[in-house]
Amino acid sequence: ITSRLSQGPLVGKRVLVTSGPTHEPIDPVRYIANRSSGAQGTAVARALRALGAEVVFITGPAAVRPPEGVEVVPVETAQEMEAAVLAALPVDAAVFAAAVADWRVISPTDQKLKKSKGGVPDLKFAENPDILKRISNLEAGRPSLVVGFAAETNDVLENATAKRVRKGCDWILANDVSPATGIMGGDENAISLIRDVGAETWPRMKKDDVAARLAQKIAQALTDLDR
Ligand code: CTP
Ligand code: CA
Repeated sequence: ITSRLSQGPLVGKRVLVTSGPTHEPIDPVRYIANRSSGAQGTAVARALRALGAEVVFITGPAAVRPPEGVEVVPVETAQEMEAAVLAALPVDAAVFAAAVADWRVISPTDQKLKKSKGGVPDLKFAENPDILKRISNLEAGRPSLVVGFAAETNDVLENATAKRVRKGCDWILANDVSPATGIMGGDENAISLIRDVGAETWPRMKKDDVAARLAQKIAQALTDLDR
């Protein structure tokens, strides 16, 4: 159910959020995927909605429930996620929080692979579409604000700064997921917000608080663009 809030700085704004992992099938019972609960993307969608935005929430198979009051578009694979994102346009802002699998198995089998065949499967991979990069580089209908995430285990600011330029997005939220931080799978994140003007490092905080802070910044940026 998509209901409208009548108040908030994002009333009248349409925003899309990708979230969760994607699953890339190997056979009917097996897949490859990234580690992602979908918690951060879900929190972002909820926070944007709380500020009055109309939210399209495009989610892979996540462990957490989607927020209330948003349009939920469930997808499985990266290719399905790309199609759903393109179908959701135009939007004023897009936040790409999904942990998209970088590769898919070229020819998933119709029948379960069996050990009794002997040997190990000879899987062949293809690279998945880079959804964030594609949307960032749209000639027509590019959202005014495109925000990506970058989960990095080392040289976080350096890697994420290069990633922002490579993708062509406006902002990147760099997330330090090195095992020493214990972030992966928890309810907190250690974020640096990277924009063209440079990076600001936020204190480690709950994913809900990261989401609220990001939503505020998005509202501010869209308001500034309207001026
Ligand atoms: N992303 C995307 N489509 C992909 C891969 C990534 O939309 N096929 C988005 C993610 O949702 C995230 C951002 O791009 O917002 C960065 O993802 P990340 O995996 O960190 O970047 P990659 O370019 O895939 O680089 P890496 O080799 O570090 O995985
Ligand atoms: Ca990746």
